Amino acid sequence: MKSVVTIGLGYIGLPTSALIASNGIPVFGVDINQNVVDTINRGEIHIVEPELDGVVKTAVEKGLLKAGIKAIESDVYLIVVPTPFKGNHEPDISYVEAATEGIIPLLKKNDLYIIESTSPIGSTEKMKDLIHSKRPDLKGKISIAYCPERVLPGNVMYELVHNDRVIGGIDKESTQAAIKFYKQFVKGKLHGTNARTAEMCKLTENASRDVQIAFANELSLICDKANINPWELIELANKHPRVNILQPGCGVGGHCIAVDPYFLTSHFPLESKIIGTAREINNYKAFWCVEKIQSEILKFELEHSRKPIIAICGLAFKPNIDDLRESPAVYIAQKIKSIYPDNLIYFIEPNISTHNRFEIRKIESITKTDIQFILVGHKEFQGLEMSNPYSFVNL
Ligand SMILES: NC(=O)c1ccc[n+]([C@@H]2O[C@H](COP(=O)([O-])OP(=O)(O)OC[C@H]3O[C@@H](n4cnc5c(N)ncnc54)[C@H](O)[C@@H]3O)[C@@H](O)[C@H]2O)c1
Repeated sequence: MKSVVTIGLGYIGLPTSALIASNGIPVFGVDINQNVVDTINRGEIHIVEPELDGVVKTAVEKGLLKAGIKAIESDVYLIVVPTPFKGNHEPDISYVEAATEGIIPLLKKNDLYIIESTSPIGSTEKMKDLIHSKRPDLKGKISIAYCPERVLPGNVMYELVHNDRVIGGIDKESTQAAIKFYKQFVKGKLHGTNARTAEMCKLTENASRDVQIAFANELSLICDKANINPWELIELANKHPRVNILQPGCGVGGHCIAVDPYFLTSHFPLESKIIGTAREINNYKAFWCVEKIQSEILKFELEHSRKPIIAICGLAFKPNIDDLRESPAVYIAQKIKSIYPDNLIYFIEPNISTHNRFEIRKIESITKTDIQFILVGHKEFQGLEMSNPYSFVNL
């Protein structure tokens, strides 16, 4: 039985490690955060993900999952560290580099090295060159592959097993070795390709979502000027058998769809016109929402000769989750807070109880507000009695 080292024990690395261990394969998880390591070694978890706690607890109790801050020798190495972007939207693969540097001295003949982190095109080849430059003895003797992750937070334990995976090696042997590895715990189909195509495939999936949402957001801007209800329009257009328009919102957030398209636009600025424009439209939509809120507030002031008490409903980047990363609603809330320092603003986000920048109010307090701006379509807002709602989403 082969052993596995996972580098990075976050939203993806920990569930992946726990799943592999629950299939009887010993896993040593590595994370630079000592608190993460200690929590896991106690059989507990530091992230919110349904069903993960039980799987981790059992794997740790059986001695199949252990964590540490330094990698140990193994047969398979999985790189699952963050890949954010820098200030200029350039991808930052320094975490992948650091994680790879850390295991280079441990690598031996017949080992398998896999990157799962979302990475710009060419990253796997870059890591191959890095490994070979430090360990020329391993040229052609280890397998190197890229296998992106496409799970949906909240359903990770199911999707890790049942989603199809795209697996791209730096050569055919590497692809086959990685497919053989994933076959042990994935029931979805495993599609072999080369590393560059697999890298681009992940970026394509998220850029595709971004472009489709941008189309819906653009329609909502046109509808606003043309005095047409965008929700009704989209519903009617979608009656066409080959049209499937998504729903507009107050922008695009999260750390995947709002981030990954930049991995294409920064390296292919001339070619990625639609992808770049989609990013701009989705960013602009949040800016536009701020202007709409301002004009509604002004209208109220002219009509009532006083400042309105307003409710900002929803801060998460999509409905029914507590994840605020890259959330356009947070951007809008922050802007409104800074433009109206003297107004009473109720920030209502049913999925969190506190926030370092906003005083989070209970949903019942919405009755005390004059205008309710709905930024996220949380289930709690559906059918809720509101005196003067203004919604940016289809509730
Ligand atoms: N979370 C998702 O839904 C999702 C979905 C698909 C793809 N991805 C991709 O998966 C990758 C990981 O994302 P995540 O959400 O798990 O990130 P995360 O921030 O939740 O976890 C990453 C972990 O890696 C650790 N780390 C950083 N540098 C390290 C190093 N050198 N050695 C060891 N540990 C290190 C961090 O302390 C952290 O615990 C990213 O590339 C992301 O884009 C994430």
